[in-house]
Amino acid sequence: MAESMKGLKRTHRCTEVSNKNVDETVTVMGWVAKSRNKGGIIFVDLRDRSGLLQVIFEEDKCGSESFAKAEKLRSEFVVAITGEVSLRAGGINKNLATGDIEIIAKDLRILSESETPPFPIEENSKTKEEIRLKYRTLDLRRPDLQRNLILRSKVVSIIRNFLSEEGFLEIETPILNKSTPEGARDYLVPSRVHPGSFYALPQSPQIFKQLLMASGYDRYYQVAKCFRDEDLRADRQPEFTQIDMELSFVDIDDVLDVNERLLARVFKEAIGVDVPLPIQRMTWAEAMERFGSDKPDIRFGMELKNVTDVVKGCGFGVFTGAIENGGSVRGINVKGQGAMPRKKIDALVDFAKGYGAKGLAYIAIGEDGSFKSSFAKFMADEEMNNLVKALDGENGDLLLFAADRDKIVFSVLGALRCEMASQLELVSKDDYRFLWVTEFPVFEWSDEEERYQAMHHPFTMPMEEDIDLIDTDMGKARAKAYDIVLNGVELGGGSVRIHQDDIQEKMFKLLGISEEDANDRFGFMLTAFKYGVPPHAGLAFGLDRMIMLMTGAESIRDVIAFPKIKDASCLLSDAPSGVDKKQLEELCIEVKLPQE
Ligand code: AMO
Ligand code: AMP
Repeated sequence: MAESMKGLKRTHRCTEVSNKNVDETVTVMGWVAKSRNKGGIIFVDLRDRSGLLQVIFEEDKCGSESFAKAEKLRSEFVVAITGEVSLRAGGINKNLATGDIEIIAKDLRILSESETPPFPIEENSKTKEEIRLKYRTLDLRRPDLQRNLILRSKVVSIIRNFLSEEGFLEIETPILNKSTPEGARDYLVPSRVHPGSFYALPQSPQIFKQLLMASGYDRYYQVAKCFRDEDLRADRQPEFTQIDMELSFVDIDDVLDVNERLLARVFKEAIGVDVPLPIQRMTWAEAMERFGSDKPDIRFGMELKNVTDVVKGCGFGVFTGAIENGGSVRGINVKGQGAMPRKKIDALVDFAKGYGAKGLAYIAIGEDGSFKSSFAKFMADEEMNNLVKALDGENGDLLLFAADRDKIVFSVLGALRCEMASQLELVSKDDYRFLWVTEFPVFEWSDEEERYQAMHHPFTMPMEEDIDLIDTDMGKARAKAYDIVLNGVELGGGSVRIHQDDIQEKMFKLLGISEEDANDRFGFMLTAFKYGVPPHAGLAFGLDRMIMLMTGAESIRDVIAFPKIKDASCLLSDAPSGVDKKQLEELCIEVKLPQE
């Protein structure tokens, strides 16, 4: 029978007890991590969110009633123990914060019993993630997850303090909305009062934060839940949290300045990492050219080299064909990997194909300077030598080449570069290299839609010097948009917004959004902007990704208390699920399932 708290008060968390408390009587409460009965003496490891504490039951100290109860203790029982702090009689456990002390129990209450848990509650669990997520309550008792969530809480509180010092106001924006313009699929919520009408959950607070600027709030921030119905990956969740902000009367440098100081404060105070300021900046074009990615990992080199000019007239049809079709040929030099076995190279070719490549050409340079290559037979010796030289190839190097449209070449080599770095362990998780990527294109061609789309969102301001380009060569126009990248992960992004009607109208037109459509979707914002709107700009960090990188977690699921899995379901609650017929009727909704 579970006992109550009547008359009891916890005096310390487990690791708040120390050798300073020796001979004092304390009351601690928590879960039984382990209980061992060594005849006559029972050892219990008590666990709470602070850590572990050893408790000892001996019948002559705690009395026969408590001793009998202690004999029944099993893992995950919840207990309250009153006892005396004593220096450890046995050896000191250096792995434990409380390793030099123990509690000699005087009294025990069993507050709750536990069935045998389906997996052990331990650091670095080997239990399959599906099982852990189904029993997430138990999983969340594990010390690594507790550390992650405690750090997360700390980070949010540092950010709140910093932004408040900087004059930002925390303001909430609605969750039941009209559709927002971030470009992913919306989650919809049916309205009962307006049958056939739907709210959209916010993909971000974008429009509302801009309205707050028009309302004169000057500097806003919010710890904002965002919802996007998109394909999930290790660093994506259908609902996630942004640290979202907007500032009035500013330009790019003001936004970057306050945010790099924010990052420096957070990384220093939360994990003791110094972020040297200012953070390096790189244009989008340079990032693509050198790293094949708009979120380059700059912890290692292995940069892309454009060899289009070198192979222009060569005998290898794959290269010349790509160039004739307006594409390019580029390569990377994987230093010291010239002896990579054929099987592993074939695996790299498959990896490249996963990113849209038709193939991957290679030259493996032997220690004796000989070449093993998938295309040497098409090339003259001089052409091969020029190519090797262009990539600074030395004996023992492996050179990898992709030939295709730029977009594919970049995505293939950008990914391959990171894959090689991870295989060769060139990067360390506690090396934090920040980078601002700036001057993103305003528009991005969508192969699917066969038209240009806004790369960021339709309220992003083009660079002043490129305003004319949006009429003449829209693919080339650059935006006042920026991303903050950390170790190859897009940590956040933002832009200067359009506050001029004429430019906004033009943007809608170029994006194929008709006046009617624009009014329908964003009319309330366009109307609001007619009554005086300050120039403004902002940014949003992905909080989950930030914590993932700070903790070194493999997935953002490990830094979210109750995450969803790849198919957007929750293994703990079984959401999403069917609803009562009555609920559907009230909403005037009839469900028509697709036929197999
Ligand atoms: P953006 O769409 O770039 O910008 O989002 C900002 C940051 O949010 C994080 N993020 C995600 N994290 C986890 N799961 C997801 N599905 C997910 N999607 C995005 C990323 C990303 O950098 N309104 C603009 C910001 C602005 O312009 O001020 C916006 O939402 O870390
Ligand atoms: P093939 O003549 O098609 O067998 O190709 C010879 C070599 O070129 C093989 O190693 C292919 O993987 C590689 N290859 C094929 N297409 C491409 C491409 N678009 N870019 C780079 N290498 C390619």
